[in-house]
Amino acid sequence: MTIAPESRPLLELAAPPTGPHDGPHYARGKRSAVTCRLKCADACSHPAPNESANEYFRDVAARALSRRVLLGGLAAAAATVVVGAQVAGAPGASAATSAGAAGRGSGKGLAFGAIAPQDAGVDAFVVPEGYEWSPIIRWGDPILPGGRAFDPARQSPEQQARQFGYNVDYLDILPADPGDVRPQGKTKRGTRGLLVSNHEYTNAGIMFDASYDAATRRAIERAAWGMSVVEVRRDREGSPWTYSRLSRLNRRITVDTEFRVDGPAAGSYLMRTVADPSGTRVRGTLNNCAGGTTPWGTVVSGEENYNANFRVNGKDPRDARYGLKDAATSYGWELDDPRFDGRNPGYEYESHRFGWVVEVDPYEPDEAPVKHTAMGRFKHEGANVILSKRGHAVAYMGDDERFDYVYKYVSKERFREGSSRAARRHNKTLLSEGDLYVARFAGDSPAAEIDGSGAVPSDGGFDGTGEWVPLVKDGTSRVPGMTVEEVLVFTRLAADAVGATKMDRPEDVEPNPLTGRIYVACTNNTDRGKAGKEGATEPNPRTTNRDGHVVEIIEDRGDQTATTFTWNLLLVAGDPSVNDSTYFSGFPADQVSPISCPDNLAFDADGNLWISTDGAPSTIQKCDGLFKVTLTGSRRGRVEQFLSVPREAETCGPVVDSRDQMVYVNVQHPGENGSTDDQHSFFPDYLGEGERAPAGAWRGPRPSTIQVYKTGRGEHPGHGNGHGNGHGDGHGHGKGDGWDGPGPFPWPRHR
Ligand code: FEO
Ligand code: CA
Ligand code: CA
Repeated sequence: MTIAPESRPLLELAAPPTGPHDGPHYARGKRSAVTCRLKCADACSHPAPNESANEYFRDVAARALSRRVLLGGLAAAAATVVVGAQVAGAPGASAATSAGAAGRGSGKGLAFGAIAPQDAGVDAFVVPEGYEWSPIIRWGDPILPGGRAFDPARQSPEQQARQFGYNVDYLDILPADPGDVRPQGKTKRGTRGLLVSNHEYTNAGIMFDASYDAATRRAIERAAWGMSVVEVRRDREGSPWTYSRLSRLNRRITVDTEFRVDGPAAGSYLMRTVADPSGTRVRGTLNNCAGGTTPWGTVVSGEENYNANFRVNGKDPRDARYGLKDAATSYGWELDDPRFDGRNPGYEYESHRFGWVVEVDPYEPDEAPVKHTAMGRFKHEGANVILSKRGHAVAYMGDDERFDYVYKYVSKERFREGSSRAARRHNKTLLSEGDLYVARFAGDSPAAEIDGSGAVPSDGGFDGTGEWVPLVKDGTSRVPGMTVEEVLVFTRLAADAVGATKMDRPEDVEPNPLTGRIYVACTNNTDRGKAGKEGATEPNPRTTNRDGHVVEIIEDRGDQTATTFTWNLLLVAGDPSVNDSTYFSGFPADQVSPISCPDNLAFDADGNLWISTDGAPSTIQKCDGLFKVTLTGSRRGRVEQFLSVPREAETCGPVVDSRDQMVYVNVQHPGENGSTDDQHSFFPDYLGEGERAPAGAWRGPRPSTIQVYKTGRGEHPGHGNGHGNGHGDGHGHGKGDGWDGPGPFPWPRHR
């Protein structure tokens, strides 16, 4: 039996699992087997592909002391670490969180009391007191002409290509006018906007019943990948949005959409196939994970675990560095389309055409999106662009693999102000030509003090200096023996060659628009310190790092184009009540929300950091969530949980609009470990067993874009006012003009 969401325990501590299933038995420190197979092609079951022998402490002694003075106030803050608060057995973090929940949070910005962490088996979306939530759009909701209301028994590739796609990751809502785009937290969204979402991958095991043949299933899956652009509107600021199913700006970008390739590797022999002898036109984008909204109002999106979709011929050893193999893929697309099989003559290099940053202009629905080779090819988590003081576009990027790297791109040209067509046309070339760097970090503490336990070294912090090592600069390769084209197509190998620092799976790398400081979410790395693998280093100080950490980078002179920086760890994640290796910049560990596996990062208008997580069910046995982290003052390092996503889901794409007192997240892979006969999540429709499903609804998990807003900010616009039950044909409901909420449910019904 499913417990109705409104009666689920919300703030009780250590709530027992609800729903019909026992909580999953996670103790091994890995994400679920299903997620591993589908999302990253079982990356963790294979050796990490970085077998290079980069020397980490090569320059430590020479640089450490001379640079410590530059750490200034940060070092002083770090020195106030209360070591005693970090030992196991300290007052339970959950109890402290409960106490925190009684207050009004800390710092400026969105006002809320932290929620209690939810047990990993809880199938509920939980928000703080005083807030409500509802979906803006769900997997399967129609967004293009001809799209029907979602009906899982009558899916087809053609329908899916007209519907919102599956596993949602990056998310933003851009204002109606690109000239109104502002740095994170500052954008005034008004009452019309463009919702942009990534669709990273699919999970056939919970999408389809047995009536679909395998080839049809695969074709539907392919149509559910990629990206969506959907126009949204609302009655007033601070109230919930509803989406348009008929807007001219609505768009699906799938594995069949044509992309233009630009930058130095466009047209290279390394990019050519028999279907595209020019090497400049690629069909589709894949594994779109995180991303960023540029200052000129486009969206950049990272092609991440694309190796899951390609079989290669096994003849090029460079492919192994990307996890590409001459083996059947779990998706099986090579059975349907020759380009997914590199053994087919003429398609040897098709896999080179993925693993890029792509740029989409949501305001130009007829314009081909672009793959930017100047930004390098790796497992791009995403990219986040900030303007330097002189107007260069600077993009920070993570390569999400154990022992892989952090990158920076600096445009050659400068940003042009305004949103005129000419200015936007110019700005859309900024990611086409520039310099590409990879990060090398050095710690300032003796190596012996970084013992892998997470113990804070005697100088009071995990910190040091670093440099951005050029791979391509001024149009020339800075990597001996590699051409520019080779550096850009085989960027991992280029970075190996210059001795980049191996990190613990760098996901989002996000500049704080208020301070210019950069934050790197290292999500985890259980291989660190294993036999034959690199051990603890000051920027990655734990062996068997299950819970991850966050690095703060401060560019020298406050210049985003600088080639040197200082850094420190903002936090070393975990549940402090059971884990004595956590660190929160000196903030008492018994007063934080437990947090594990940081993934996506965002900032609010006041410069607070927000972290969404991916993996907490498998590490601290809690549902993933969204957390606020205070960055300044005496509460620097304080972590407060804002929301919790349902069972087996990860939290993605956070947008925090403290001015509107609204928060948006993408909920990815709810109920991932279930099956169509045994669903583990019923989010977000939450139909009861035997309950009649209104048109467009389903009793099963649906990756969805969720909005959280203050209680009483207005009825969800898709409901009420005569929008009740007259939706039999699935067309034209809502307000009769093509504006449509996600279904005729009595939302909001969740607290
Ligand atoms: Fe798709 Fe690195 O998460
Ligand atoms: Ca140190
Ligand atoms: Ca991610």
